[in-house]
Amino acid sequence: MASAIMSSLLATASSPPSLSSKTSYSPQNARRRPTTFHRQWKLCNLSIRSSGDNSTDESPLIKLDRRNMLIGGGLYGTTLGLIHDQKAVAKPIAPPNLSKCNSSSDGDVLYPCCPPYAFGVLKPEEIPDYQIPSFTTLRKRKPARDLSDGELSNLKSAISKMKSLGGTDPWSFVQQANIHCAFCNGAYNQVGFDKVPFECNNVPLQVHNSSIFLPWHRWYIYFYERILGKLMGDESFALPYWDYDHPDGMEFPKIYDETPLLDKTRAEHARAGNYVDLHYSFEYCNTPRPKDKVIEENLCYFRRIFNEGAKDRTLFIGKTPEAGQESAVAGSLEILHNVVHQWVGKCESPNFDMGNFITAARDPIFFGHHMNVDRLWEIYRTQFMSTTGFETDNPDWLDASFIFYDENNKVVKVQVKDALDITKLGYSFADLSVEWKNVLCPRQPKTKEAPVAEFGSTTRVLAEYPIRILAKRPKSSRRESDIEKTVEVVVVDGIEVVHTSSTRFDVYISTPDNSTDFGDFAGSFVTVAHGHEHGKTADSKAKKQSLKLGITNLVAELNAETAESLVVTLVPRTGVFLIDGVYIEQNNIK
Ligand code: C2O
Repeated sequence: MASAIMSSLLATASSPPSLSSKTSYSPQNARRRPTTFHRQWKLCNLSIRSSGDNSTDESPLIKLDRRNMLIGGGLYGTTLGLIHDQKAVAKPIAPPNLSKCNSSSDGDVLYPCCPPYAFGVLKPEEIPDYQIPSFTTLRKRKPARDLSDGELSNLKSAISKMKSLGGTDPWSFVQQANIHCAFCNGAYNQVGFDKVPFECNNVPLQVHNSSIFLPWHRWYIYFYERILGKLMGDESFALPYWDYDHPDGMEFPKIYDETPLLDKTRAEHARAGNYVDLHYSFEYCNTPRPKDKVIEENLCYFRRIFNEGAKDRTLFIGKTPEAGQESAVAGSLEILHNVVHQWVGKCESPNFDMGNFITAARDPIFFGHHMNVDRLWEIYRTQFMSTTGFETDNPDWLDASFIFYDENNKVVKVQVKDALDITKLGYSFADLSVEWKNVLCPRQPKTKEAPVAEFGSTTRVLAEYPIRILAKRPKSSRRESDIEKTVEVVVVDGIEVVHTSSTRFDVYISTPDNSTDFGDFAGSFVTVAHGHEHGKTADSKAKKQSLKLGITNLVAELNAETAESLVVTLVPRTGVFLIDGVYIEQNNIK
C-alpha cells in the first residue's frame, strides 16, 4: 500500500529542489550509467515496487534479500528484535575492498570518484594502521572570522597549492573532494556485502546517517589539514572553523568570498553580510529573514540539541550501525549540520557542491563547516555528555575502521576509538565556550490549521499540510526520582522520503490544552541530496529512516509532567514523506 501511495505521489508531487535522476546537470567528468547497470537498477526498483507492502516473499528479490533482512538490512520494522537477539559478537563497520570501487551514482548519472589508488593490490587486511605522530605542539584551529592577514594568506596559498596538483594526485583538491563522494555515494559496498557490482542486495558503505558520521569526518578533515600542512612545510598549519553557534559567527565568513576559497555554486545568500539560518529550508532562498529572528532561533536550536543530548548520547551522536547496515539513525548534531549544507548550497534544482554530498567537499566552506561540527562535538564531549555508556561500551562504534591516504603518501587504516582524544590528534580549538545556555525559545505560531488526532495504524503522507498527533506518554505524573532515571523521546518512525533530494520537516511539541500555536521546537528531519536513492533499492524497508528527538527538558519547560498525552506537530518544509508512526518513549538511562 505504501508503494501505491508512493507512485501516485511521485506522479503528482511538486518537485522540491533536487538533483533528480531526470536532471540534465552533468558535471564534465560524469558519464552515463552503462546499460547493464541501468537494467539491474531498474529491475531492483520494479521488483520491490510490485512486491507490495507486506513482504510475502512473492518477489524473487525479497527472497534474494533474506540474508540482508536477517543480518542487517532490516534495521527498522519487525526484524529489529531479531537482529538484537542474534547479536552475540561485535560487527563493526569495516574498511572496503579498495579494488572493488564503483562509480558513485545519483540514480542516472555516474560520478567517477574512486581514488587513483583504488585498483592497486592492497586488500583491507594488508593495509597498515595509521601511526599517529607524537605531536609536541598543537595545531590551533581558530574562528574563520578571527584569522590574521598572515594566517589568511597561508590558508589561501595552501588551498591554491592543493588546487594546482594534478587530478590523479591523491592530495589534489579534486581527489580530496572525491573521498567524500566515494564514502557517501555508494562507490564501495561493505566487505561481505559486495558480491557483484550493482547486485541488488549489496550494502553500500555510508558515512552519514549514523554515529559513524562524527568520527569519519573527524579523520577526513584531520588528514586534509595534515596534507595542507605538508604542502606548506608547516606542521602547525591549522584550518579555521566557521563558528555559527556564536551570534557574531553566524554571519557567513567573508574569507570564503575570496579566491581561492570562493565557490560560485553557492546560494546567492551564502555571502558575508548574511547569517546562516538553521530554520532555513529553500522557501527563504535568497531572501534572508531578519537577522535578530535568525539568531534567536539558531541559539534555541543549539540549546535544544545539547540539553536533550546531555542525557542520552545516541540522541546527539546517532545510532551505531553494524556491518551489513547502510545507516542507522542520525544524531541531532548531524541533522543540524545538514541544514548548513542546505543553506549554503544553491537553492534551485539541481543542488550541487554544498547542497549535494557528491560534490560538497569541492567548496572550501565545507571544511570551515566541518571544523565547527568537530568543535561542537568536542564541546559536547567536554561540557555536556554524561560520563558512562555508549562510547566506552560499544565495540561496533569504537572498532569501526576507515581507510584514508595520509600525509605521508600511504594508504592507512584508522579506527573510531583513536579519534576520541583531539590532543592525541595534535589539535585544539581557540574557543569552546557556548552562547546558548540560557536562551529562551520562541513558540511556533500555527502556519496552517490541521486537526489533532491519534496517528492511526496506516502510513500517512506528510506533504502540504502539517500532521498533528495526539501521542500518549507511557507514564505521567511521575516522581522526580523516576523522571531523573529516564529520557523521554518522540519517535517519528518509518520515514520514507519520496524524492532523492534535500528535504526537511520540523517537529513541535505542545500540551493538549494549548490551541493557540504549535508549541515548542523539538527538532527537525533534514536530508541533503546525495547518491543512490533512499527507498529506491531492493530492500525498501531497510531504507526507511527514523527520527528520534529528546524532549525530556522540553516536557519540563512546558510543565507537562501531568499531561497524559502531548500534541506532536510535524510541519512539512521541503519534500514529501511517508510516515509509519509517531509515538513517545520513556527509556531508562543506561
Ligand atoms: Cu559528509 Cu557535511 O558531510
